Formats: sequence, structure tokens, C-alpha cells
Amino acid sequence: MTQTLTLRRPDDFHLHLRDGAMLRTVLPETARDFARAIIMPNLVPPVVTGADARAYQGRIMEALPKDAPFEPLMTLYLTEETDPEDLVAAHASGLITAVKLYPAGATTNSQSGVRDVEKVQPVLDAMAEAGVPLCVHGEVTTHDVDIFDREQVFIETVLDPLRRRTPGLKVIMEHITTSHALDYLREGGPLLGATVTTHHLMIDRNHMLVGGVRPHYYCLPIVKRATHRTALAEAATSGQERLFLGTDSAPHLDGAKLSACGCAGVFSASNTMACLAQLFEEADALDKLEAFTSSIGATFYGLPLNPDTITLERSDAPVPVPAGLDVPGEGSLTVFDPARPIHWRVL
Ligand code: NCD
Ligand code: ZN
Repeated sequence: MTQTLTLRRPDDFHLHLRDGAMLRTVLPETARDFARAIIMPNLVPPVVTGADARAYQGRIMEALPKDAPFEPLMTLYLTEETDPEDLVAAHASGLITAVKLYPAGATTNSQSGVRDVEKVQPVLDAMAEAGVPLCVHGEVTTHDVDIFDREQVFIETVLDPLRRRTPGLKVIMEHITTSHALDYLREGGPLLGATVTTHHLMIDRNHMLVGGVRPHYYCLPIVKRATHRTALAEAATSGQERLFLGTDSAPHLDGAKLSACGCAGVFSASNTMACLAQLFEEADALDKLEAFTSSIGATFYGLPLNPDTITLERSDAPVPVPAGLDVPGEGSLTVFDPARPIHWRVL
């Protein structure tokens, strides 16, 4: 027996596309299902100025399969040297949709990020004034804070003070991983949103560490204990307001993942919608999937809803995890394994 499900075409509010051969390999995977995506700026060197964003947008459009109606929503990487005038002009012209704050050292390619948030206060004030949203990687980088506690400590010691100092700033807590972040979101009011990834809704730290270490599940923020995953999944599948999909699909070559010091990042662009349909079906909440993937985020960002649709099909037989991709001249890329049978595919 098959069943189909038609949804408004989704958006991905947190996506890493990289550059060059990797960009050309992964972009079609997202463009097949998604209408738009917030494009992360953590290239090497990062996308810091309006001119950098314009050039990167050009490379993305060049890599896009012909006639794919995909729109990259560009971002700037906030540094302590960011020029508020350049940033505000890039937003006013429609070139960028948001700005990303990486605490220096928090994650992949975050060396040029912010060491002292007080230094960027004038930029944050200008953003609040001009209505530019701030996407935040919410983890402290202090050595004495345990990696599993870094999100909670960031919310208390950095994010909450930042938001109090900057009333009027629209903030998105990126890739939240804990019930603490959910609690903070719920208290946060209309200017606070949050994204959650496909993998943080489906796996916990036991999947990563029991019976052997599974480097393909290593990402930042690190996956937490099961109670956090359950809280996130319950929130997403019950239509929690201001909580929406940002896959954080973050491709790294297998050689860089399967190493003595492996890179952080899960590549889920190829099968995110199938995984989410499975998760929402298991929660008896297929009727809430469209809000999570296709309207809550767009509404929070003030973007029009996508006019067209995608259709998923459910089959009795599980659909295998997609095969890895070949990045020409560079190596292979492994697709996220959601650790359970998936019965859905996008037609
Ligand atoms: C991301 C990457 O590889 O760029 N990695 C990850 O584990 N999520 C960076 C990020 O979003 O933290
Ligand atoms: Zn990311």
C-alpha cells in the first residue's frame, strides 16, 4: 500500500553549501526539495562583506542545475571588524537576509568569529534598528565548560544578556539541542526564533557512542542525551511556535570525518524530508509537518510562503539510506543515517 502527502515546498533555514566541487555536488540535493535556504557564511575565508556575499551568491547561482527555482538567502559572518554600514546596506538592497554570530572557536571555520560580544554591540544596535535578524551559534567556548553544557551556559551568560542589551533585535537560536533552549525559546517573545536540525530530532548521544564511535554523527552542537532529543521532537511535532527546520546539513569529505580528529558536521540534505515525514508519522503528527518545514520559519523571517508543493510517498517496504555522493576529484560524502527504517521518499 502506498500513501502520498503533499506539502507546501519547504525552506531550509540553516544550510552549509561550501564552495567549488563540494558546492556543485551538494546544491542539487537541496534544490530538488527546497525552495530557499539560509546559506551559512563559514567559508575559508568567511563571507564578511556585502561584496563577499554578492560573489558567493554568484557562485551558487552558477552551480545551480538549470531551471531549478531555488533561492539562496545569503548571510554575513559577523566579525569584530564588521562595518555596520556595509551590513545594513547589504540587507536594505535585499542581498542578505541575516547575519551569523559564531563565537570564535565554537565550530568549523569559526576562527574569525567574535571573541568579545561587547565589541560588536554597535553592529547589533544597527541591526536592531534596521531589522536585520541575527542567527546565533549558541555555545560557549570556555575550556572549563563541558561540551554537553555549552549551549545551556551560552544562553545564560551570553545570549540572554545580549538580548537584554539589544531590545528590538530579531534573534534565531541556531540548531538548538536541549530542553533548556526550548524553555528559553518559549519565554522569548515574538522576536526570538529557533531552528532545529533533522539529526537532533532523530539521534541522541547513545547513537553516536554506544557500541563504537560513529563519526558521521559527530556534529556541533554535539548530540545530547535522549531526554533532550525527545523534548525537541515533541516540540517540533506539536507545532511549537517560532521553532522551525534548519537542517545544518554540513558536508565534510569522508576522509575528514573518519580521522583521528574528525570534523563536525552531518550531511542530511539528500534525505531530510523523508526522515522528517517518518518522525512526524511516528508522532501521529503528519498534519504538523508542513508548518515545521514550510511556514513557521518563513513567517518568522517575514518571507512570503512558497506557492508550489512537493509530494512524498510512503511505501510498506523501507527506503534505503541514499548512497554516498562522489565529490569529483576530492572524495566521497556520506548521507545521514537516521538509525531507523524510513518508509518515505520525495517523488
Ligand atoms: C558546521 C560546519 O561543518 O560548517 N558543523 C556542524 O557540526 N554543525 C558548523 C556549524 O554549524 O556549527
Ligand atoms: Zn551550521
